[in-house]
Amino acid sequence: MAKDILLTGQLVDFTGDPFVGDPAESVLYERHGGVLLRGGEIVARGGAEALRAAHPEARVVDYGEGLILPGFVDAHVHYPQTAMIASWGKRLIDWLNSYTFPEELKFADPAYAAEIAARYLDLTTAHGTTSMVSFCTVHPGSAEAFFAEALKRGQRVIGGKTCMDRNAPDGLLDTARTAYEDSKALLERWHGQGRIGYAITPRFTPTSTEEQLEAMGALWAEHPDCLMQTHLSEQLDEIAWVRSLRPDARDYLDTYEAHGLLREGGLFGHAIHLEPREIDRLAETGASVVHCPTSNTFIGSGLFDMAGLKARGLKVGLATDTGGGSDFSMLRTMAAAYEIGQLRGTPLHPSQLLWLATAGSAGAVGMADRIGTLAPGSEADVVVLDLASTPAIAQRAALAGDLWEAVFPTIMMGDDRAVRAVWIGGAPALG
Ligand code: GUN
Ligand code: ZN
Repeated sequence: MAKDILLTGQLVDFTGDPFVGDPAESVLYERHGGVLLRGGEIVARGGAEALRAAHPEARVVDYGEGLILPGFVDAHVHYPQTAMIASWGKRLIDWLNSYTFPEELKFADPAYAAEIAARYLDLTTAHGTTSMVSFCTVHPGSAEAFFAEALKRGQRVIGGKTCMDRNAPDGLLDTARTAYEDSKALLERWHGQGRIGYAITPRFTPTSTEEQLEAMGALWAEHPDCLMQTHLSEQLDEIAWVRSLRPDARDYLDTYEAHGLLREGGLFGHAIHLEPREIDRLAETGASVVHCPTSNTFIGSGLFDMAGLKARGLKVGLATDTGGGSDFSMLRTMAAAYEIGQLRGTPLHPSQLLWLATAGSAGAVGMADRIGTLAPGSEADVVVLDLASTPAIAQRAALAGDLWEAVFPTIMMGDDRAVRAVWIGGAPALG
């Protein structure tokens, strides 16, 4: 039997939601802490000395002052947009037509899809992200490539073939029927294989006819344990377009709700410009919204109302939205979430930011018992951060009076240089 592995360092994990009550109270912090890994699972967390004493046979990997956290969970990405991240000067619809769709057309070639899937997972591992929920392209082969690469790496990922049957180039269109059939074949083949999950993926209302959304709703009803991901109310022009395409609908969310696409397990990316009825329905149904702060500033979309939506009890995840987002890093994403909170007059506490990038995102995707946590019984996906990874960060952290002051400079100024080690499924993936 493989030896147990004991990772030691400073340890931060969560025992509750830091948006409820005192933000620091739901935090489990061990100045000299550890987490014990066995066969891909976490079997214990706590004080380092107690764990050493209880498990003298374990191989110890000591990270010193390094900060041990659950691996980051990125709740909304487009892995096929890896190569065109940071494309200049457009807003959503023009950005899709000018940069995104031409790049996604390349995924007709399975070899290109495989190359980008591997590149994307290399980059995200280097940034400390161990799980993500990804859109693929319209090509079933793009989902095959993503899942095959994740399976090889033993990584917990969720993905789905993007479905669109209008308002995109011919080479990126499916139909209501082929979207249903191809998605069904993919989910039957991949959902539950290794650590892979399937998300039924209509891109958004402007690119899906009612017939296609109806087919997606039918497929989800037949496979209720899958997730469903799409976009909602990202930009005002987009919302006006949806209104003109679907004048019958009460609002944007209704264009999904009408086809069985609103319930727990539904992930709605962006969700910035929401109507009161939409907020009520998201809260009532237990669906999740996903905040994509670097994307929202980069594409010029607007200011997500984190404090307001959390106070309404919505499930909220955090995401890069690669490549509408401008970075692969969940640290950069936390920094952007902080800045958007400031612009709304509600600065987020560092514990809230770390929670969003771990347990919060895991909860939003219905996997809080498996990922985004170091609790015993969860999967052994771990990131270790260096809280002094650059001279600028180190000199600020040196003045810190407490844990949060020590962590916040890395949240605001850190990137992949702050990622000292990554463990995926109990195996070293970096460092
Ligand atoms: N809305 C529909 N498709 C996309 C996409 O690829 N990225 C973003 N940010 N918004 C979208
Ligand atoms: Zn997106």
